[in-house]
Order: sequence, then structure tokens, then C-alpha cells
Amino acid sequence: MKIPFSPPFVDQDVINEVVDSLNSGWITTGPKVKLLEDEVTIFTNAKKSVCVNSWTSGAILVLKWLGIQPGDEVIIPAYTYSATALAVLHCGATPVMIDVTDDFTIDVSKIENAITEKTKVIMPVDIAGWPCDYDAIYKLVNKKSIINLYKSNSDKQKFIGRILIVSDAAHSIGALYKNKKVGEIADITIFSFHAVKNITTAEGGAISLNLPKPFSNDDEYKLMKLYSLNGQNKDALTKTLLGGWKYDILFQGLKVNMPDMCAAVGLAQLRKYDSFLLGERKKIANFYLTFFEKFKFIQTPVTINHERESCYHIYQIRIIGITEVERDAIIDKIFEQGVSVNVHFIPMPMLTLFKELGYKIENYPISYDNYSRSISLPIYPQLTIEQLDFICNSVINAYKSVISK
Ligand SMILES: Cc1ncc(COP(=O)(O)O)c(C=O)c1O
Repeated sequence: MKIPFSPPFVDQDVINEVVDSLNSGWITTGPKVKLLEDEVTIFTNAKKSVCVNSWTSGAILVLKWLGIQPGDEVIIPAYTYSATALAVLHCGATPVMIDVTDDFTIDVSKIENAITEKTKVIMPVDIAGWPCDYDAIYKLVNKKSIINLYKSNSDKQKFIGRILIVSDAAHSIGALYKNKKVGEIADITIFSFHAVKNITTAEGGAISLNLPKPFSNDDEYKLMKLYSLNGQNKDALTKTLLGGWKYDILFQGLKVNMPDMCAAVGLAQLRKYDSFLLGERKKIANFYLTFFEKFKFIQTPVTINHERESCYHIYQIRIIGITEVERDAIIDKIFEQGVSVNVHFIPMPMLTLFKELGYKIENYPISYDNYSRSISLPIYPQLTIEQLDFICNSVINAYKSVISK
């Protein structure tokens, strides 16, 4: 049996929506992007959402919109996909990395010591779809001593008057924190709609706004739309209308808009996310939990407790008492049986770019421990019970063949 890691969910509704876009005569940013923005806003209870062509471009846009520049610092976890740090580097600013806790999210107790007068943003990451402790992060940035330390260098920074919380929610559309949806908690939440995500547009993302007063989320939405289109005051569709050809470039923006053809895929998926796709993921997580609970050497991830619920984007098991080398060998043995697995993620201080910038994995012991024992298993709605059984047994066989050697 061959089991892929994360094929996209493409049913007839997805195909129909894309064909509709192709037949409409308009394939780049237009009515379907607007619809997706509205549906993401409704689904996440955010105030407004801007669709872009990736999480990465959305994060660069948000940081530039805030006026992030060389000399500024952005606090992020060491354990994430590197796009979190790369977005900061693209603005010339410094990513300040913090270790994570056992649940893979940023260790809030270590953030305060890392805050300086250069800190402008904290970007926590909801790894695997498990939300961070947002209340603890907000409590920290609203502390008098932290607010007194804050120095604003742009109008937007002055408006916010404290460190901005930008959630890296690349994994977490549909996750819950204290009965709130991810999207209505942080000041700004950025989702990824990359091909492997719970909701995909092939490549894409959405910036969901939830900015406090005196911001107008409607005004910032309009500004970010301009930002996503080279700072041009008219989009391509508007330019086709009578008298619409004359345009202006108002400022130096980016070119990161989402095409309608991509939005079509996301629209069809989002419409059945709550009623079908999310529940299927949860069933698979429950299947894994029931199976692996019996094995003392397997640590299953927390996916639900009294205040949070994951959106089951990634299912990471950790094997107790093994080394990184043994984990790698177990992964090879799983692959040999036809099952594609993965690791989320290699902590950034272990990657060449970040090592060269001076980050050292020794400073992030929990990130290393989580990484060295972790294996991500396939989790997607198309998986059958037979396949799930096969995956589980492949893991146990692989463990036995490596560890009994
Ligand atoms: C935690 C995290 N942040 C950001 C990204 C970047 O997303 P995108 O590929 O849409 O730019 C990813 C992608 O996998 C991710 O896992």
C-alpha cells in the first residue's frame, strides 16, 4: 500500500468552482477573491480579511505596513517553519527566537526577558493547529513596564501604542482558543492556504484583521489591498471599466494579490470545512489516539483541552526515549513500508542560514527535544480506516525493527 503524506482535497465542487472561474472570462483578482475574503472573515469572526498569494507575502506585507525596518526586533519561536523568520529578515529586522514548551508553542514565560525597546511585534505560531496561549501573551504586552519600554517609529506603531501581536496561523484556521476562533484573538492573524493546508488555494493566504481602536479595520483593509497590488489605486478589474484606465501609484507596495482561479479552490473547500472537512480530520486524530494510547513508547499530541481545540492540521507523535538518529531510522522504515511521513519542523537554529546568523540550537533545548523525537503522520479527509490501520502498524513495525536492533 502507498499512502501519500498530504494530497489536496479536490472534489467535484472544487472543480466546478475553478471551471466557473475559467469560464467567467476573469481569472485574476476579482469577485471570487472578494467572496473568499468575506467568507474567511465570517468563518473566523475577524473584522476584515485580505487575501494574498502566500502566508509569507502576507507577513512581509503586514510587517512593512507597520513600518518594520532595520534595527527593529520581532519575537518568534525557534520551532516553526522558517517563513516566520524569513518575513522578518525581508524587512531588514531581527528575528528574536524563543524556545517552545512541550506542546510546541512559544514559551511565554521566556518572552519578557527577550523584550527590548526595539521589540515591535510578537509573532506566536499555532503549530500543527494548536493555538498558543494568547491571553498570557496579551497580559505581557499590556504590562505597564512593557508598554513604557515601547518606542513607536511609525503612525501605525503610534496607533497601537504597544507591541503588536501577529499570529502565525498558517496551520490553524478553524482552531479554538477559549471559545474564540483563531482570527478573532490576535491583532492580526495570517493564514496559509498552501497546497497542504486544511484549506488551500494551491498557494495563498489571508490576513485577518482584528485591530483595536483607534484603527478602522475597514480603512486598514483598503490600505492593505493597495499594498498587495503595487500601491496602485485601481485593481485590474476596475481598470477595465469605463473611465477606469487612468491609475496612479500611491506608494511602493508589493505584488502579492491572489488570483480568482486560486480563490475558487479555497471557496469550495471553506464552504464544507465546518460541516465535513474539519470533522474528518478530528476523526483521524481520534483514531490515532485510540490506537497509540496502548503503546507506552508513543507520546500522542494534545489536540483538545478545557480551553483550546486544535484544527488537526498536523498529527505529530513523539517517540519516548529515542535519539534523533533513531528517529530518522524509524522514518526510513516507515517509508519502506509505503507510508509517507514528515517532521514539522527542523528548528531554525539548525538550518544553515540561521546558524550563519549566529543562532545556536543549544539555546533551544525543548525545540531540539521535540524535533528529535517527532514524526508527523498523514492526516487528511480522504484517508480510509484500512489506510489508517496500515499507517499505525507501519509505525509500530518500524519502531520495533529499529529499537530491537
Ligand atoms: C508555521 C508556518 N508559517 C508560515 C508558513 C508559510 O506559508 P506559505 O507557504 O503560505 O508562505 C508555513 C508553511 O508551511 C508554516 O508552516
